[in-house]
Amino acid sequence: MPRTGEMADFGFQRLPLEHKQARVDDVFRSVARRYDLMNDLMSGGLHRAWKNALVTAVDPPRHGPAVGARPFALLDLAGGTGDIAFRVVEAGGAGTRATVVDINADMLAVGRARAAERGLDDTITFVEGNAEALPFPDRCYDAVTIAFGIRNVPRVAAALGEAYRVLRIGGRFLCLEFSQVDVPGLEALYDFYSFNVIPALGRAVAGDAQAYRYLVESIRRFPAPQAFAEMMHTAGFARVSFQRMSGGIVALHSGWRL
Ligand SMILES: C[S@@+](CC[C@H](N)C(=O)[O-])C[C@H]1O[C@@H](n2cnc3c(N)ncnc32)[C@H](O)[C@@H]1O
Repeated sequence: MPRTGEMADFGFQRLPLEHKQARVDDVFRSVARRYDLMNDLMSGGLHRAWKNALVTAVDPPRHGPAVGARPFALLDLAGGTGDIAFRVVEAGGAGTRATVVDINADMLAVGRARAAERGLDDTITFVEGNAEALPFPDRCYDAVTIAFGIRNVPRVAAALGEAYRVLRIGGRFLCLEFSQVDVPGLEALYDFYSFNVIPALGRAVAGDAQAYRYLVESIRRFPAPQAFAEMMHTAGFARVSFQRMSGGIVALHSGWRL
């Protein structure tokens, strides 16, 4: 891959931009099998409430499409093991469809197996691909989501541009991501938990403390919500807003293609 001279954050390390994806891929290859269990353990189940808030905002039609109308189509970027897609198709009415794109074959394999167990393999399509260059035509999805994925993507602006390109006019982009704690007193506790407990859990449960150290560090390097909102504006989104949840531990970002 040609060197661009650009640098990127990989957790607290700096490395050439073109090397970041391979390092991120190693992390998710290593944790794929234990990824869902670790989410429950690390967040005490809270990630489910955060994801439900995202699904409520997606608001898939509950009674299916009107006669003659096309079904609701969701694209979930960096969708990994399919959590968001499952929730959206289960919340939506008959006909709701989801496509999960992820760059990591191991995460997708777990997702496909979960879809088969739930009888959702005809409703959810799993595609190996890069959020920075989507293999889909313009304007073909009603909603595009990305949960805890964007901070892992090396070229964030490219991924936002692609999300905008594939959204239909009137479609909504929603991004759930870790953010910055804004409750006095909670910060020290959160730091202690993040830098001590999470890597230890990662070692005990997923056999990889380093991968979970990266995940924690990458949260600290992700832009503040106002700065990310600016990036969404630059990508073309309208009515950009964000909502902090759980004392700022996560933020739900929203923008529309109008
Ligand atoms: C923390 S996981 C989130 C998975 C899922 N969205 C969830 O909320 O459970 C981050 C995911 O981003 C994926 N990813 C990283 N870089 C990517 C890229 N350039 N394009 C698509 N997916 C990417 C990883 O493979 C991983 O599955």
